[in-house]
Amino acid sequence: MLPAYMANPTAVVFGGGTPIDLGKNWKDGRRIFGDGKTFRGLIGGTICGVITGLIQMQVTPLHNLGTFTYISIFTLSFGALLGDMTKSFFKRRLGYERGAKFPIVDQLDFVAGAWILTYAFDPVWFSDNFLAEPWIMVTVVFFTPLLHRLTNIIGYYARLKKEPW
Ligand code: CTP
Ligand code: MG
Repeated sequence: MLPAYMANPTAVVFGGGTPIDLGKNWKDGRRIFGDGKTFRGLIGGTICGVITGLIQMQVTPLHNLGTFTYISIFTLSFGALLGDMTKSFFKRRLGYERGAKFPIVDQLDFVAGAWILTYAFDPVWFSDNFLAEPWIMVTVVFFTPLLHRLTNIIGYYARLKKEPW
């Protein structure tokens, strides 16, 4: 999960500049994704997640842990941010402003995105590392909201984030 866990907060660090929706509105007159989803965040976060995975790929065999594939490194990182973006799309459709609190969904969007994209493009790796280890999935779903809250509180006080959630 580490590539996904790195991609999400580094998108906040590198984010800013041109929004992915180029400032355009959806048919309902609200923004497609909003100013909180930018190219810099998407690309910067993906690169940081991929670097994390590549480092893990080098060190995990030494510890006899599961190994990564190049595909899974990319899909965990990019998928995390795709999940976060998809969440923003639906948030806007429901009328939530950028940055509005959306409990549980704000915290698990990136896990869902990372898993779905990885399952779609590297089903064998996903089955071996997640489906075959259901307790890992349960642990991730249970602890991610806590970890996410903690990270965002730190991000808020470090003045990287506008809201502590
Ligand atoms: N960010 C970014 N690009 C991304 C994801 C995040 O630039 N693809 C940056 C933005 O500066 C954003 C911040 O990270 O404001 C926090 O991300 P998040 O909480 O996901 O976005 P919100 O601003 O809360 O917007 P939304 O309501 O759409 O979730
Ligand atoms: Mg937010």
